[in-house]
Amino acid sequence: MTSAQPPAANPQPQVAVFMGVSGAGKSTLGAAVAAELGWPFYDGDDFHPPENVAKMAAGNPLTDADRRPWLARLHALIADHLARGEPAVVACSALKKSYRKQLRAGNQGLVFVYLRGDRERIGRRLAQRLDHYMPAGLLDSQFADLEEPGSSEAIVVDIDVTVDEVIRLFRSRGAGGLK
Ligand SMILES: Nc1ncnc2c1ncn2[C@@H]1O[C@H](COP(=O)(O)OP(=O)(O)OP(=O)(O)O)[C@@H](O)[C@H]1O
Ligand SMILES: [Mg+2]
Repeated sequence: MTSAQPPAANPQPQVAVFMGVSGAGKSTLGAAVAAELGWPFYDGDDFHPPENVAKMAAGNPLTDADRRPWLARLHALIADHLARGEPAVVACSALKKSYRKQLRAGNQGLVFVYLRGDRERIGRRLAQRLDHYMPAGLLDSQFADLEEPGSSEAIVVDIDVTVDEVIRLFRSRGAGGLK
């Protein structure tokens, strides 16, 4: 690489939300990108109220009403980071457009990174994952809920994207990195 980008004079604060269905790799890739950038990483799973965790563990999909307090907590986390001018990476499925709207409200400087992959490839990954409370059977309901974002709403990447490629895409967005 020879064409270095000029440093941004006044970088915008930014928070990247890695989204997609269970097993897409939000936690794995999000944490790796955060580590590479030296940004803190937050896993959306850790912000679920205990009732939601119990529901998922029992194999029951969450309703929109279940997700509302969870999204509110994540929205507050993102807003705090942006207000302090401290970047961060968050993993959050954000499957429906209304969920993304709730997270985005007033949070200029937030960008979604959508990890896109088909049911079969993601199902294979989930089948190999043992240490997690999300049973693979919930994947169908995740795909049923998924309203895929387009490129105007998110940076859309394949589930096999590399850490370096994601960071390159951030930087190609210019000063502040993310819109
Ligand atoms: N790029 C990759 N290549 C191969 N396997 C991967 C990759 N990224 C993640 N995995 C594996 O796929 C499985 C799912 O990844 P991960 O737990 O990060 O998904 P997730 O989107 O966070 O899911 P959830 O919503 O259930 O938390 C894990 O076993 C992980 O090790
Ligand atoms: Mg995860």
